[in-house]
Amino acid sequence: SLVSMAQLLLDAQQGQYAVGAFNCNNMEIVQAIVSAAEAEKSPVIVQASQGAIKYAGIEYIAAMTRLAAEQASVPVALHLDHGTSFAQIMSCVRNSFTSVMIDGSKLPLEENIALTNKVIEAVRPLGISVEAELGKIGGTEDDITVSEKEALFTDPAEAERFVSETKVDALAIAIGTAHGQYKGIPKLDFQRLTEIRKRVNVPIVLHGSSGVPDEAIQKAISLGVCKVNIDTNIREAFVAAARKVMVDHPQEIDPRKMLGPAREATVAIIREKIRLFGSSGKA
Ligand code: G3H
Ligand code: 13P
Ligand code: ZN
Repeated sequence: SLVSMAQLLLDAQQGQYAVGAFNCNNMEIVQAIVSAAEAEKSPVIVQASQGAIKYAGIEYIAAMTRLAAEQASVPVALHLDHGTSFAQIMSCVRNSFTSVMIDGSKLPLEENIALTNKVIEAVRPLGISVEAELGKIGGTEDDITVSEKEALFTDPAEAERFVSETKVDALAIAIGTAHGQYKGIPKLDFQRLTEIRKRVNVPIVLHGSSGVPDEAIQKAISLGVCKVNIDTNIREAFVAAARKVMVDHPQEIDPRKMLGPAREATVAIIREKIRLFGSSGKA
């Protein structure tokens, strides 16, 4: 069934595990995310990025996820990833999203707080949860030095102020991860995470989690991360499987022969992640 994200994350916080938030773009990925969760008896978050909304349309993503959730026995939250505006949030509300992220991380602190509060006032009465971002989680393509990068990390004192003034359901922080494929091995600032956790009690969200070593993910979870976002690892698994069919069988013209194996490979990688995050059997 389709549920709000807040309770899933509070349960995770209590139980010291994390719920995976997996990005979808198409029917096969929506089905793979929910089947993987079902197979692992795990709660799950299906999320739609800006690119996914542009590609598939918010209505399609919502309709496919609602159907998958209805057919599942595990709780599924449908979440907007990196929401860009109040108007976009409202369009998610109309399409029965159960959770939204408003990403005001590029704004000055006061404006980020104000925008986040505007969203919370509008959607919380509807039972929809809100994630915000403080600090800047970049892409691995933005070529910046380590010190430039650290300047973008979440400031623990600001995190404390942000949470006390907004009461968000979940806070995304920047501690060294980035979106996309890493060039080297990312190093997370666990001391900063510990400091943030001391100062805020809401579930913490780790973005850019594909390519982060398993041990680092588990350590982050032990330090208060309750939602782990994965997109790139899904793209890699999906495309590798589809590509293999195309290379091995260049005469193949049936898209199902490519997208079927791609969907299976996606289920497999998501099941691995769910086990890593410790949410198997928690539904
Ligand atoms: O937000 C993180 C996503 O991995 C970026 O996705 O290219 O679909 O917008 P997008
Ligand atoms: P990755 O693509 O690096 O897994 O990041 C996903 C993410 O943070 C989506 O918001
Ligand atoms: Zn992200």
